[in-house]
Amino acid sequence: MSPLIAGNWKMNGLTHSLDELSELARLLTTGEAPRALVVVCPPATLLAAVAAQGASSGIIAGGQDCHANASGAHTGDISAGMLADAGAQYVIVGHSERRNDHAETSDTVRAKAEAAIGSGLKPIICVGETESQRDAGEAESVVAGQLAASIPDAAEQHEVIVAYEPVWAIGTGRTPTLDEISQMHNAIRARLADRFGERGETIRILYGGSLKPQNAREILGVDNVNGGLVGGASLLAKDFYTIISAV
Ligand code: 13P
Repeated sequence: MSPLIAGNWKMNGLTHSLDELSELARLLTTGEAPRALVVVCPPATLLAAVAAQGASSGIIAGGQDCHANASGAHTGDISAGMLADAGAQYVIVGHSERRNDHAETSDTVRAKAEAAIGSGLKPIICVGETESQRDAGEAESVVAGQLAASIPDAAEQHEVIVAYEPVWAIGTGRTPTLDEISQMHNAIRARLADRFGERGETIRILYGGSLKPQNAREILGVDNVNGGLVGGASLLAKDFYTIISAV
């Protein structure tokens, strides 16, 4: 399976940020061909532009969230069909910032992932424990519970991606040790294989949380780490490209 590196711009990015995308495209097309699939998830306001501008350099556009319904009276929300219509091929669901800021449960996340699949998108389903859960020795059981409830049965026939993002590593500059990453990714792989059999072996498991140019090579080299979900370091083309090149 080819690794996948996705950039999550979160609530960052104005029209001029497309200059960074142009620079990323330049680096990707003039340097050695990347070994990873490259996905950029900008704010919804820039999605169509990223999809159009990225196409010629192989940069794939993704959304950051979608509603579980196809349409209707949901002011401010965006459906999976709308993201696909704007040119997205992927969508992040269940990011810990959505789970916290918008009280999203794993049931909500599963419904969103189902909606994404229904619109032809590949959902990037996020899971991860808080610091107090890790300190209490509950990291694996918390993540197992999130996986069980957030991944739809439709993953048996359709591509989904799992992103393990320990909440305490997001935007903090702190990361788990390589052993801790390995242990969690192996545990996630075992759960996926238990539930989906051989197909579970082919589901990408991304690592996210303070993934940087400085640590990308070692983290992306861990067994069962099939790529990364990058926040802050995806905002600068040079840094994001260094992470992509670390694959
Ligand atoms: P940082 O890379 O900024 O820690 O963010 C990770 C993340 O939340 C990606 O979805």
